[in-house]
This record gives sequence, C-alpha cells and structure tokens, in this order.
Amino acid sequence: MQNNLRTLAATPAGRRYVVLAITQGLTGPLMIEGKRFNGVMPAQTLLDNDIVRILNGLIGPGQRPFTKTEVKGIRASGAQLDSVRTGQLRPKAEVR
Ligand code: HEM
Repeated sequence: MQNNLRTLAATPAGRRYVVLAITQGLTGPLMIEGKRFNGVMPAQTLLDNDIVRILNGLIGPGQRPFTKTEVKGIRASGAQLDSVRTGQLRPKAEVR
C-alpha cells in the first residue's frame, strides 16, 4: 500500500483520490496491482491536520508533502461524494 500511495501522491488526481478515500470512504471494485478488491472502507472521522500527518507519514520523504490547505480544499470539493463515487476517482492507470 505504501508503494501505491507514493505513486498516487505524484499526481493531482491521485492526491484528490487518497484524501477523499479517507474522508468519504470507499466502496469497490478497485484494481490494485492487478488484483481486484471489492471491499468497503468506512469514512474516517479525522481532522484535516490528522489526515496531513497520516498521509505524509505513509508517503515518506521524496514526495511533495500534503498540506492542511490542500487537504481542506480537496475535502470541501468532495464533501457530497458517496463511497462508490469516491472509488471511481482512483486514477485508472495500473499502479505498480
Ligand atoms: C486512517 C485510516 C485509514 C487510511 C489512511 C486508509 C487509506 C486507504 C486508502 C488510501 C485506500 C485506497 C488504496 C488504493 O486505492 O490503492 C484504502 C482502501 C481500503 N481501506 Fe482504508 N484507510 C484507513 C482506514 C480503514 C479502515 C478502518 C478500514 C476497515 C474497517 C479500511 C478498509 C479499507 C478497504 C476494505 C479498502 C479497499 C476498498 C475497496 O475494495 O473498494 N480502511 N484505504
């Protein structure tokens, strides 16, 4: 998952997806590293700052860090999405 996250964090669409996966939850199907996942992830109730810390901890160095301003903006832009629509935001390119 760390590898995926690093790749996802490299594009604006991927960054939007990972933040909204946390705030809105996710309902499959997702294709990750050639495997199909059809699970449900509940939306997490977290402060913007907690999301910043978690994501920056997971992506590690070498990737542009998430900021509170960025997370706040993405969260507001997707506040009305349900978990199915959030899953559909995952960039289509196969992440390896
Ligand atoms: C702060 C806590 C969490 C973070 C940061 C997080 C992050 C993520 C991310 C980024 C993905 C998408 C991975 C990808 O597309 O490559 C994901 C998927 C998933 N997460 Fe979480 N997650 C958290 C908590 C949870 C919890 C508490 C559960 C279960 C109770 C959960 C269950 C799942 C499942 C089942 C998927 C796959 C969903 C699907 O198949 O559509 N996650 N998570």
